[in-house]
Amino acid sequence: MPGFEIIGTGHYVPGRPVSNTDLSRVMDTSDDWIFQRSGIRQRHFAPEGSGCSDFAAEASRRAIESAGIPPEEIDYVVFATMTPEYVFPGSGALLAAKLGLKGVPALDIRQQCAAMLFGMQIIDGLVKSGAARTILFVGAEAHAGFMPWEDWDALDPASGRTATPEQREKANKHRALAILFGDGAGALVFRATERDAGLRGMKLHTDGTAAKLLYVEAGGFRTRPYWKHSDYDEQKYIPTMDGRELFKFAVTKLPQSARALCAETRTPLDAIDWFLAHQANARINEYVREQLGVPPEKLPSNIERFGNTSAGTLPILIDEQTRAGKLKRGDLCMLLALGAGVHWGTALVRW
Ligand code: UT7
Repeated sequence: MPGFEIIGTGHYVPGRPVSNTDLSRVMDTSDDWIFQRSGIRQRHFAPEGSGCSDFAAEASRRAIESAGIPPEEIDYVVFATMTPEYVFPGSGALLAAKLGLKGVPALDIRQQCAAMLFGMQIIDGLVKSGAARTILFVGAEAHAGFMPWEDWDALDPASGRTATPEQREKANKHRALAILFGDGAGALVFRATERDAGLRGMKLHTDGTAAKLLYVEAGGFRTRPYWKHSDYDEQKYIPTMDGRELFKFAVTKLPQSARALCAETRTPLDAIDWFLAHQANARINEYVREQLGVPPEKLPSNIERFGNTSAGTLPILIDEQTRAGKLKRGDLCMLLALGAGVHWGTALVRW
């Protein structure tokens, strides 16, 4: 039965980097606070009028080019985002149209920061069943739309603009959330292979009793109409996040999952070449790494430059590691991720 291999990678981030100091122009925060608590120095934001499928298309073109295949060879698209252009249809269809993949099935998945793991399980099933052979996986986000400030020009020191005290007060209510997220897309081209590569094992979990640790209250179909002026006034379009609980969840569940997967697949932790972890907070990954006794050079980090790009994070990291010549054919990798849902898990993959 065939496994999968990743034959092409690409990523794209929009606009100029926005530093922590730039954020302090619109809310009460500082570079020191943000860097110490999260490891983030800068992030990118989607410009007004552009959506996640635009960044996804750029990242995909780069991935397809690096795979050296014509786009027509793609016979399935798996698209992950928590910030789609529309309530429906999903952005996978928009991405496929931008790539000229008319008629190719495009599946949208909604597992937020854990999407890469769920996507990989689907891709493994598609190649093993013979339903598809060359699959494009893309994670892309445009979180800018839920940021708690409205004067975007005020972020830019060159604008000479500053947020009003009233605007600052509004933004301050969401500052723990607003510093974390950044926009961008990562794309991977998977292909069925007879080579000894692909998924070796996976542990996936969902705990919906914890769904409200990170969720968006407004814009859902419990209310008629599903959008109300009061939702805007009460800032319900901005996600509610219990950062401390999520932090605890991650530093408990991820090492547990990693150990269980190693036991199940009879893989010693030190046989693993790379630990490719979702980047929600550098401190979370430090805790996880220390608990597992993994040397720092085996767990790469790029959160400093991008923040948390949710579904985009793991494919962006994989693209960077591949292009840097670090992640290579034959390497044994563990992927680790946790995101809103709460969905989490680990995967063991032979590259
Ligand atoms: O994939 C997405 C899933 N999300 C996560 O995994 C998030 C995990 N959690 C975290 O990363 C951390 O909880 C945060 C970085 C979001 C926040 O760090 P924290 O250490 O949990 O801070 P906190 O929210 O408990 O706030 C501590 C203090 C508060 O002040 P008081 O009440 O102690 O006076 C906050 O008001 O820090 C204050 N604070 C800030 N100060 C400056 C909160 N946000 C900021 C800020 N700048 N941006």
